[in-house]
Amino acid sequence: MSAQAVLEPHPLVVQDLSLSFGGIQVLQHIALHLKSGEITGLIGPNGAGKTSFFNCLTGLYSPQQGSIRLGDLRLEGVPPTGRAALGFSRSFQHVALCPELTMAENVMIGLDRQSSAGWLDAFLPLPRGKAERSRNRERALAALERLGVLEVADEYPAQLPPGVLRLAEIARAIAGNPRVLLLDEPAAGLNSVETGDLSSALKRLRAPGLVLVVVEHDMDLIMEVCDTIHVLNVGRLLASGAPDQIRGNPDVVRVYLGDDDE
Ligand SMILES: Nc1ncnc2c1ncn2[C@@H]1O[C@H](COP(=O)(O)OP(=O)(O)O)[C@@H](O)[C@H]1O
Ligand SMILES: [Mg+2]
Repeated sequence: MSAQAVLEPHPLVVQDLSLSFGGIQVLQHIALHLKSGEITGLIGPNGAGKTSFFNCLTGLYSPQQGSIRLGDLRLEGVPPTGRAALGFSRSFQHVALCPELTMAENVMIGLDRQSSAGWLDAFLPLPRGKAERSRNRERALAALERLGVLEVADEYPAQLPPGVLRLAEIARAIAGNPRVLLLDEPAAGLNSVETGDLSSALKRLRAPGLVLVVVEHDMDLIMEVCDTIHVLNVGRLLASGAPDQIRGNPDVVRVYLGDDDE
């Protein structure tokens, strides 16, 4: 596949993916077609394998079996850095912003992989880094604006509420204009007003060239923003469908009933 082809909208296609650790099956025969231009939800009880699935997509984990393709491009053998360069981006379950940097600078870290002078040069007050730094700052501000939190660009994380920090983390993940964006429990720790802001922001991120996958326990958020939802249970795909189909699926109701952790 040419570099140009990678820029076109491509689905992320997973076939027969299995992952185990020392005899413990974490994922079994997962087959998923994650469409570009949609928001895909991935739900399931704790320990279902959702984060492990993300780790397989980004190359952090090496599944024993199966294939992952972005369009025609097979990703086995492509290391995490190579997948990042292809446009894979993610946020993590826990807020991971650097307290010493302003919000704009934190978002600029997301441009690392595309920086020609290198990340350090772009941060140091040297001539070769200066032009790049100002270009990166513009892109970081644009990303913060897209998430609706431009006004905090020059503030530090310690001064800001969790909802704003979460939106800024997502700004960092989209600053480099990814093809695949994986968000792991973005609403965790947020209050209902913050979750509402997150929901609006996610809907604005839906774009033709982006495969956007959201792992989340907040069912209202998932039902509100997703086009398609896949349900994982103990490493297996239990159900897939539109929000209404998932809501009414008896297997899904059974898996969630009695799990007060959700
Ligand atoms: N690096 C690892 N080594 C051993 N077991 C792991 C590792 N990563 C995940 N697991 C196991 O895989 C299962 C699924 O975990 P995880 O993917 O974190 O689930 P979820 O994100 O759905 O809560 C758990 O039983 C977990 O202990
Ligand atoms: Mg998880």
